[in-house]
Amino acid sequence: MTIEFEAWLSALPKAELHLHIDGSLQAHRLLSLAKKNAIELPYSSVEEVEAAYEFEDLQSFLDLYYLGASVLIDESDFYHLMMDYLLKCKEQNIVHCEIMVEPQTYAPNGVEFSTMMAGFDRAIKQAESEWGQSTLLILSFLRHLSEDEALVTLQQAEPFRENFVAIGLASAEQGNPPKKFEQLYAMARAQGYRATVHAGEEGPAQYIWDSLNDLKVERIDHGVRCVEDADLVTRLANEQIPLTVCPLSNIKLCVFDTMQQHNVLELLEQGVLTTINSDDPAYFGGYLNENFLALHHDLGMTQSQALKLIRNSFEASFLPLGKKQEYASALQSQSAGIKL
Ligand code: HPA
Ligand code: ZN
Repeated sequence: MTIEFEAWLSALPKAELHLHIDGSLQAHRLLSLAKKNAIELPYSSVEEVEAAYEFEDLQSFLDLYYLGASVLIDESDFYHLMMDYLLKCKEQNIVHCEIMVEPQTYAPNGVEFSTMMAGFDRAIKQAESEWGQSTLLILSFLRHLSEDEALVTLQQAEPFRENFVAIGLASAEQGNPPKKFEQLYAMARAQGYRATVHAGEEGPAQYIWDSLNDLKVERIDHGVRCVEDADLVTRLANEQIPLTVCPLSNIKLCVFDTMQQHNVLELLEQGVLTTINSDDPAYFGGYLNENFLALHHDLGMTQSQALKLIRNSFEASFLPLGKKQEYASALQSQSAGIKL
């Protein structure tokens, strides 16, 4: 059954909505870029890099993640980073992706906004023309930095306004509440950006409430700690506010001890608009398909549940309605016979 499930899942058109581009930096690319840019790393082989993928919490991961991103310097580095992920999309039949880009990560290394964008844009346009890949970018801010620093980055993004569909907020959640970025979200909304935010991964359910009420976001990244507040789960379900859940990430960062304890299928059954995503696939042991396979294997996720989760991803995307409908009907025609 597992092999059949895998073949069935691989063939379905899918969307991914929660992916940090720096989290898709594979060990071999990390090492080759470090060599090219003469950046010293404490690793000299793919095995050594991968041996470091043991994390006890979000912060222990972020330390390695920012070290990894320090090898990205010129336009071609950003092109290769993006192209490596888009090729994975092609391989896994992820026909639409929404990718978080974090310019504040590169700025301390002297990388200009325009250098980063040129590389990313070249890869995105190539993938679109070669195999019809659909890609949207999310301008994601680092919440351990100040709101003033985020506002400077928002201003630097102005010449590239058309390249981004939304803003987001990532990095250390504990101690950096949504309220810290209220002005940023208000200004971005006034400029026409749509909005998402990481909340309820390590932070409490209250951060999800505050994200909805104070930042007025349309969707929540992770959000799995919503179960600590029944009223919140009711609101998420009633208003069909999407959660971009990342199962393998949650295990690697010890949000849940084991996949058997993961709550995504319970949330799905309670009517919450849950979606499946990989977050930082190079670091967490799997891309999108592997996340679905883990749920099938460890939680007994059925084909019907998988199909609902995939359908939800198109529904929860920042695509215009017409595009969502096109993808939904393509999915429908390829999954005939599976009851929802
Ligand atoms: N949470 C917060 N920030 C992040 C993550 C995450 O899971 N991945 C990359 N940046
Ligand atoms: Zn994330």
